[in-house]
Amino acid sequence: MTRIFNFCAGPATLPLPVLEKARDELLDYRGLGMSVMEISHRSAAFDGVADNTEACLRRLLSIPDEYAVLFLAGGATTQFSQVPLNLASSDRRGAYIVDGSWSKKAFNIAQRIGLAHLAGSSEDCGFKSIPLENEWNLEDNNAYLHYVSNETISGVQFRRPPECALPLVADMSSDILSRMVDIKKFGVIYAGAQKNIGQAGITLVIVRKDLLQDLPPDIPDLQSWKVQHKQGSRLNTPPTYAWYMAGLVFEWIEASGGVERLAKLNQHKADTLYQYLDQSTFYRNDIPTEFRSHMNVPFQIVDESLHGRFIEEAEAAGLSSLKGHRSVGGMRASIYNAMPIEGVEALIGFMKEFESKAG
Ligand SMILES: Cc1ncc(COP(=O)(O)O)c(C=O)c1O
Repeated sequence: MTRIFNFCAGPATLPLPVLEKARDELLDYRGLGMSVMEISHRSAAFDGVADNTEACLRRLLSIPDEYAVLFLAGGATTQFSQVPLNLASSDRRGAYIVDGSWSKKAFNIAQRIGLAHLAGSSEDCGFKSIPLENEWNLEDNNAYLHYVSNETISGVQFRRPPECALPLVADMSSDILSRMVDIKKFGVIYAGAQKNIGQAGITLVIVRKDLLQDLPPDIPDLQSWKVQHKQGSRLNTPPTYAWYMAGLVFEWIEASGGVERLAKLNQHKADTLYQYLDQSTFYRNDIPTEFRSHMNVPFQIVDESLHGRFIEEAEAAGLSSLKGHRSVGGMRASIYNAMPIEGVEALIGFMKEFESKAG
C-alpha cells in the first residue's frame, strides 16, 4: 500500500488509523453482521454511534451543557442560510465580517433573503487581511456577528475570536479542532466535516440553547435548529456513515492527546513552512504574518510561469493537490490535523529540489 501526502483543502487527508478502523468495521460493525451504512438511523446501534460521537466531541472542546450539538446534512453552505433563518429577522439583521470568499458567500446568501448587514470587509486589499475590529460598523440591533475563523482560499485566520457583545457566529469549517476555543464566547459554531472532522456530507452545529427558537410557519422544519435538536438531528435520514466517521476522528484526536496537543503540532507545521517561505527569494506568501492561516498556506513562485510545472512535478513526487484555488492561483498547502510534520518536511524538501533545478 502506498499513501501519498495529500494537501487538498477538502475533502482532505484523513488519519490513517481512522481509515484502518473504518476498514476493519466496514462489513461487520461490532458484531452486528452489518455495516454502519446498513443500519437504521433510529436503531439502538446508531443511537450508540450518535451518543459516543457527541460525548467525545464535548470532551474534546469542553462544550458546556447549555450548548446543543447538532449533526446536520447539507454542508457548511447550508448554514449560510440556516444561520440567518434561525437567528435574524428583517428588523434584526445579522452583521457580517467579510475577509474572504467564504465569508462573502455567507454574507451574500443572508443578504439575498434580506437578513444581512455588512459590518466590515477586506475585499479592497484582495482579502489579504482582516478588517480592524475598531473599524467595524455594527447596527444598533444586530441579531449576531458572523465571521469565518479561517478563510480556506486566501489563507487568512483570526488569531482569537472577536470581542463583541452580540452572539458570535463562527464558520470554523477549516480550523475546528485545530486549536482550543472557549465555547462560551460563541452563540453558534458550525463546520463542514471534510477537513478536520471526517468525510463530506455532514455539518456540525454547536448552538447555545437559548438561541434555539421557533421559526415562522412558512419555513420548512428541516431548516429549524430547534426542531432538529428536539429530534436528535434525525428529523429525516442523516448522512449516517459520515456521522460515524466523525466519531472515529474524534476518538483519534482524543487518543492523540487532545486538541491542545494537536494545536502545538499545527503551530510547529505552520511555523516550519512559513519560515521556509520567508527566507526564500524563489517562493513567496503575501499574507502579513499576523493574519496567516495555520491550516491553509497559499504560496507562489516569484516566476509565476513555473506554477504549472511545480504542481505537475509535485504530484509525480507523491505530493498531491497543491494547486491553489482558481480565484487565487499559485499553490496552496492545506495542513490540517491529519497532515503529519513529515508531509510538511517532504514538501519543503521537494521545494528545495525544484528551486535548484528550475531557479
Ligand atoms: C470556511 C468554509 N466555509 C464553508 C465552506 C463550504 O463548505 P461545503 O462545501 O461543505 O458547503 C468551505 C468549503 O471548503 C469552507 O472552507
